[in-house]
Amino acid sequence: MIDRVLQAIDSHRDQSIESLCDFLRIPSVSTQLEHKSDMHRCAEWLGKQLEGCGLKVEIAATGGHPVVLAKNEHRPGRPTVLIYGHYDVQPPEPLDLWKTPAFEPTIRKNEAGVDAVYARGAVDDKGQVWCHVEAIRAWQQQGGLPINVTFLIEGEEEIGSIHLDEFIKTHKAELKADIAVVSDTNQFARGWPAITYGLRGLVYMEVFITAADHDLHSGMFGGAVPNPANVLCELLATLHDPDGRVNLPGFYDDVAELTPREREEFARLPFDEAEFKNELKLTELYGETGYTTLERRWARPTCDINGLTGGYQGHGAKTVIASKASAKVSMRLVPNQDPKKIETAFKQALIDRCPKGVQIEFQSHGGSPGLVVPIDGRAMELAAKAIERGFGKKPVFMREGGSIPILGLIKQELGLDTLLIGFGLPDDRVHSPNEKFDLDAFYAGTRTAAALYEELSRL
Ligand code: BES
Ligand code: ZN
Repeated sequence: MIDRVLQAIDSHRDQSIESLCDFLRIPSVSTQLEHKSDMHRCAEWLGKQLEGCGLKVEIAATGGHPVVLAKNEHRPGRPTVLIYGHYDVQPPEPLDLWKTPAFEPTIRKNEAGVDAVYARGAVDDKGQVWCHVEAIRAWQQQGGLPINVTFLIEGEEEIGSIHLDEFIKTHKAELKADIAVVSDTNQFARGWPAITYGLRGLVYMEVFITAADHDLHSGMFGGAVPNPANVLCELLATLHDPDGRVNLPGFYDDVAELTPREREEFARLPFDEAEFKNELKLTELYGETGYTTLERRWARPTCDINGLTGGYQGHGAKTVIASKASAKVSMRLVPNQDPKKIETAFKQALIDRCPKGVQIEFQSHGGSPGLVVPIDGRAMELAAKAIERGFGKKPVFMREGGSIPILGLIKQELGLDTLLIGFGLPDDRVHSPNEKFDLDAFYAGTRTAAALYEELSRL
């Protein structure tokens, strides 16, 4: 049966790319209010496509953007697989850096000379969701899926899944499954498909410094009044020590340390630091002393300024002491660190370090814990077989540094472990201009998804 399904996938390639491009044309930017109606349009469009595959679809309202929920006919005695993904995308800005427009998907050769589709969301996560849609379509055309599938595609992953918590808590029965499957991660490298068994968590904070009630001439007042931008810079400069460690009291207290075995396994992966630097056009790397680059990216907690504002931003010079300054700071967490505790430590440290005479305020943009899933289970074994079928190569096991905020809750509320089986590549420029998805990764991903459903039917 699987052979016929894979053949159907192969003969449907051109149409599958066309439909993916239709998906990519909808500017479903979850964080920008002006795209609210595009979010609805995107959910409806996806729902229609899934209906076309013979699934029963519900577009469920939440306190924010809608959730697309779809199921085949569930039969007793078969394993149920919850496939989670997201149809929302990151903002496309800065627009002038796109070689072709973000929401006009274009197929052209990438830097490695391979065909790829370029668009915002190409790989994160519409393209990877589409691998599953095409795999489901093929199975349905060949007589039906061998497992019970619940497809849960949300519209708020890129803004921390703020309303999905509530949805999951109130739809537990509908979401009951044996395992969760997520394709929203990467291969280790071109030619090195992977299963990811760990992700970092996240705490995202914004800090605001204000002083005088209006902007001041920097010649008349400079040196005699507190300058919010100066204060902000002083505070931010305290966040790391000279060893590249995060300088917040208690930050490392609960960190799950890497085991010697895991460090050995990371070291065995074919990671070339010179090539990594070269791809990023960097001459030096940076990070916590005592850890390798892969360890720093995948398994160590970190802190980075993600946005910085204050004072005059226009062309040329303006001599002014602005009355406010602010920064957006994200901290990536590893297992056992508690997002709430880290948020409190961040706030308290900055309050303690803040000089008198300015106001300091915070806004929290949410948090999620780090995650590791067991690698020795039956599902992992089956997933490895599916990858071998889809990519023609055995997978490596790796962790990743990014976050998928809802997975903690999927474990906690639904009791499900997640299989992270992603098809992207490290050079796909996710969250950046010129995001892309290699077409051969898209095809191999679709074949892998189809093979995975067959493998998981043995669970
Ligand atoms: N697909 C990514 C998660 C990811 C990134 C996995 C890199 C593996 C490697 C996901 O869509 C994402 O970007 N998540 C956000 C979550 C945040 C906005 C709460 C992230 O990690 O920044
Ligand atoms: Zn994503």
